[in-house]
Amino acid sequence: MSNNLLKGKKGIIFGALDEKSIAWLTALRCHEEGAQLVLTNAPVALRMGEINKLAETVHAPVIGADVTNMDDLKKLFEGAMKHFDGGIDFILHSIGMSVNVRKGKHYTEMDYAFNQKTLDISSMSLHRVLRTAWDMDAINYRGSIVALTYIAAQRVFPDYNEMADAKALLESVTRSFGYHYGVRKKVRVNTVSQSPTRTTAGSGVKGFDGFISYAEKMSPLGNADAGQCADYCVTLFSDYTQMVTMQNLFHDGGFSYTGVTEAVINQMEK
Ligand SMILES: NC(=O)c1ccc[n+]([C@@H]2O[C@H](COP(=O)([O-])OP(=O)(O)OC[C@H]3O[C@@H](n4cnc5c(N)ncnc54)[C@H](O)[C@@H]3O)[C@@H](O)[C@H]2O)c1
Repeated sequence: MSNNLLKGKKGIIFGALDEKSIAWLTALRCHEEGAQLVLTNAPVALRMGEINKLAETVHAPVIGADVTNMDDLKKLFEGAMKHFDGGIDFILHSIGMSVNVRKGKHYTEMDYAFNQKTLDISSMSLHRVLRTAWDMDAINYRGSIVALTYIAAQRVFPDYNEMADAKALLESVTRSFGYHYGVRKKVRVNTVSQSPTRTTAGSGVKGFDGFISYAEKMSPLGNADAGQCADYCVTLFSDYTQMVTMQNLFHDGGFSYTGVTEAVINQMEK
């Protein structure tokens, strides 16, 4: 399926780790829709080598960048602008990592040094990316930035741990920088709040199987998968959503506005 929605557009995709990654599927869809791409991930992720398969398919260079390192980000934008011979039309921020979860720390026993790292990678990295682009004037007029988030920013999902706070901060940076970039260059910045999805980051959440089947039962349309998230991101990068900015957009099959479903009630009555 291609409608050339992104014909002539140039974008940077952060966070394609393997073929399950939301960023991986988004890169494929953006390519199908006519975009030119630059792929990036942390040097440690690049060493896995998987991303090279994607790079071949979408004819994109891979430029490594640790998203917490301003020098890396500057080099990434310089490399991308050189490759595109001009500015950038869209960016996907598809990055998340919880150090406390990795180290098995319960929310109530949080290690604050780990937490700083989590917030830097998962939330303030969006500020770092936008700030780098801002300083270099790297994003074109009416560009579009999308970052991925989760509804634990609004409601408690206990096992989501410190990532709930990280996503709340990410959504706040989206609004705050979205304001400034909108005024300056009509650049829009939004978050997409995605259903639980079976990826490396997703499966790191404790009790993920229960989590994903509960969400499936609580969503009138069922859970949105990674491919459907990629389709939605394409629309947000396209010219059909030029006046949408500073929003948290739920892409969750209706989960966010559902109080209860028959499927869940039936289960409770058993
Ligand atoms: N999978 C889910 O259930 C789900 C649901 C809602 C939102 N999200 C969000 O979607 C985004 C993508 O996650 P995913 O599920 O595709 O998992 P994923 O594990 O495939 O992607 C996470 C990416 O973050 C990258 N990353 C980590 N530290 C980095 C650093 N320092 N610098 C640069 N990149 C770094 C990883 O290398 C990886 O590519 C994340 O923001 C995640 O929180 C996921």
